[in-house]
Amino acid sequence: MTETYHRIMHRDSRNLNFIESGSVDLIVTSPPYPMIEMWDETFTELNPVIKHALSEEDGYKAFELMHLELDKVWSELYRVLRSGGIMCINIGDATRSLGKRFRLYPNGARILSKLVHLKFDVLPKILWRKSTNSPTKFMGSGMLPAGAYVTLEHEYILILRKGEKRPFLSDTEKKIRHESSYFWEERNKWFSDMWEWDVGSVSQELTQESLRDRSGAFPFELPYRLINMYSVKGDCVLDPFLGTGTTSLAALSSCRSSIGIEIDEGFSNMIAELLCSCLEQANSYISERLAQHTRFIEQYELKKGKPKYINETYGFPVITRQELKLGYNSIQSIELNNSKNAETIHAVYYDDPSVICNPQYTQKDLF
Ligand SMILES: C[S@@+](CC[C@H](N)C(=O)[O-])C[C@H]1O[C@@H](n2cnc3c(N)ncnc32)[C@H](O)[C@@H]1O
Repeated sequence: MTETYHRIMHRDSRNLNFIESGSVDLIVTSPPYPMIEMWDETFTELNPVIKHALSEEDGYKAFELMHLELDKVWSELYRVLRSGGIMCINIGDATRSLGKRFRLYPNGARILSKLVHLKFDVLPKILWRKSTNSPTKFMGSGMLPAGAYVTLEHEYILILRKGEKRPFLSDTEKKIRHESSYFWEERNKWFSDMWEWDVGSVSQELTQESLRDRSGAFPFELPYRLINMYSVKGDCVLDPFLGTGTTSLAALSSCRSSIGIEIDEGFSNMIAELLCSCLEQANSYISERLAQHTRFIEQYELKKGKPKYINETYGFPVITRQELKLGYNSIQSIELNNSKNAETIHAVYYDDPSVICNPQYTQKDLF
């Protein structure tokens, strides 16, 4: 039976002693961003001295104290990640005025420096460009030199590896790797170092009273791509800053298991509901991905003629030999099990990836 498990835990990720060393295949996450005001309270709860540094308008001290809390999580993540495993961190720098000083707080650089110290191998990163049309986006002295500031319109996806490349040695490992491959045209887009509007956006508003006002969530497509780029079916994906549950949703939709950790218990019902009700949308995401490939091939054939290879699962043309065995498993059922301190969601898939569930959604309804 093809199945995955999704553990949602409400705990503090600075201590992950309940996760075995080397047991996680991939980490995809986005921490609270140091020096962005919406996260001041979260950091102050982790270390009350931060509030003092902010009220003294000592920006660099507050910045460093916030990162010292995140550093504890990065150390734990190095321990739980398997050798050859990848970690992807979505983070943005912060701009902020404290007292009379306007500064950029370089979160991406500060995190990378800690990760190098921990002995992660740094891989090329992705710039996620989030351009805004807001008329107030330019800050400072307008058209008068020299006090205007460049607008921050991008975030990073930092990509790191623990140790040497992951080996796929046995026949079973090789088979799963080939079945988990992505399309040639997806590779061309996903492995570009600049991701733009096509990653999508997500409403940041949280309406539940017990929750903060804004989610800080990333769009579904972001962890979905990273999970498909850096793991294979059946792997375990960890997000130590789970928020609304987007990474677990993307893992479930991609036939990977997941562990999600979120310190704020208020998100519990929301995440369980999201995962338990995603079956039709997740299946439609797969059928839309296949439909996009078919459209791509139609265009390709007009320009360059018939591709050389036929995919063995779906019988449509593909560009490379590496896509011959590719196949995505649709979900058959999802069920929730509650236990003390954790919810576990169990998903069962059709073993045969050629079973495509009828799309009931159009592209714009998906996540
Ligand atoms: C930027 S948000 C993540 C949003 C998430 N990617 C999503 O799509 O919803 C960071 C999350 O980390 C949580 N958090 C902060 N400190 C934490 C800690 N020490 N352990 C676990 N979660 C923490 C916050 O409550 C917040 O929900």
